[in-house]
Amino acid sequence: MLRVGIIGVGTVGTSVVNILKDNAAVISARAGVDIVVKSGVVKNLNKDRGLDIKLTDNVDDVLNDSEIDIVVELMGGVEEAFEVVKRALKSGKAVVTANKALLAYHRYELQEIAKDIAFEYEASVAGGIPIINALRDGLSANHIESIMGILNGTCNYMMTKMTNDGVAYDVVLKEAQELGYAEADPTFDVGGYDAAHKLLILASIAYGIDAKPEDILIEGIQNISQDDISFAKEFGYVIKLLGIAKKDKNEVELRVHACLIKKEKMIAKIDGVMNGISVVGDKVGETLYYGAGAGGDATASAVVANIIDIARSGKSKPMLGFDRPMEAGLVLKPIQNIESKYYLRINVSDKIGVLAKITKIFEDNSISIEAILQRQSSKDSANLLISTHMAVERDIQALISSLEKLEFVNSKPVMIRIV
Ligand code: HSE
Repeated sequence: MLRVGIIGVGTVGTSVVNILKDNAAVISARAGVDIVVKSGVVKNLNKDRGLDIKLTDNVDDVLNDSEIDIVVELMGGVEEAFEVVKRALKSGKAVVTANKALLAYHRYELQEIAKDIAFEYEASVAGGIPIINALRDGLSANHIESIMGILNGTCNYMMTKMTNDGVAYDVVLKEAQELGYAEADPTFDVGGYDAAHKLLILASIAYGIDAKPEDILIEGIQNISQDDISFAKEFGYVIKLLGIAKKDKNEVELRVHACLIKKEKMIAKIDGVMNGISVVGDKVGETLYYGAGAGGDATASAVVANIIDIARSGKSKPMLGFDRPMEAGLVLKPIQNIESKYYLRINVSDKIGVLAKITKIFEDNSISIEAILQRQSSKDSANLLISTHMAVERDIQALISSLEKLEFVNSKPVMIRIV
């Protein structure tokens, strides 16, 4: 028998307990051993969770219990969770975690500390989709050319509802929270940080890149308006929050932001709370992964899969999938050098000469306009909708700051990158 202790018995923890019970027969057949939850740590012992496992509010009851073989860390947060998993590993217990923030900051230290002790984290990226498994094992023969993913279910749910049903941002965010998709602090979702944490984990497996959230371009969906959604629709695009990792010679670019995507693209069709990830390998070509990226049971499905895997083998693979440096000299591309095509919406006073002055500023910043369209937004103002050819981030940022200083530009221009 294999005994599990769960630290943090919330939505996902409760699902882990229930899956281990509901699917006990098939799980023990696959694991080759019975798996039981011995105890769970919660903050509030008075809350009824409807579970028949022993609950405690003292983490030591799990960490110091010599009968517990696997610690499942579902408490969230970074530093406290780091201390807890370090203690678990140091006492020889295997660890399974769904904690992407912990890994975004401490994955390399954890790989060092874990060494031969199993440390698994499938649920940390894209909930129920076995993307860690696919990238670390299934595609291990490849150089990874790119990863492009819808990695945050909350944002995808919100963008889908805002696009298809015209639902307002605040209303749809509340819905996502009620459905249990959003993080405790939804800023992590809508600000792009949750997707960034996941992207960093994938980028480590793919490239061995050791970057922190602070090092990469992260933008959320807070500024996406119904105006932009409907213009996008009119021109055959949808807007989605994407996490992108791309190798370009000896540089890897990592970025999370809203994107305009042609509506025919597979990734544009991934709607609702679902996640989808395209991974391109140099030998395999493009592969695509789709499934539920949030929610208790979907996330717990990945947690339990890790538990089963540990039960089968008892030992760890290299946690991030490599034991030696993978590609010498591979570095993170500076944010300012990232290249993209851009959509800009500039709300201007509708006066003689405005367009000429605006296009001059594009020229001054070495940005080539691909297409331009003007739409009246009120009696004396208009939206200029401009798409660019490939340009670099540095120039676009300079362009936007020049534009917003102009007295006939009514508000900060909206910029969305086109993929
Ligand atoms: N808040 C996350 C999401 C949950 O919406 O995708 C899964 O990490």
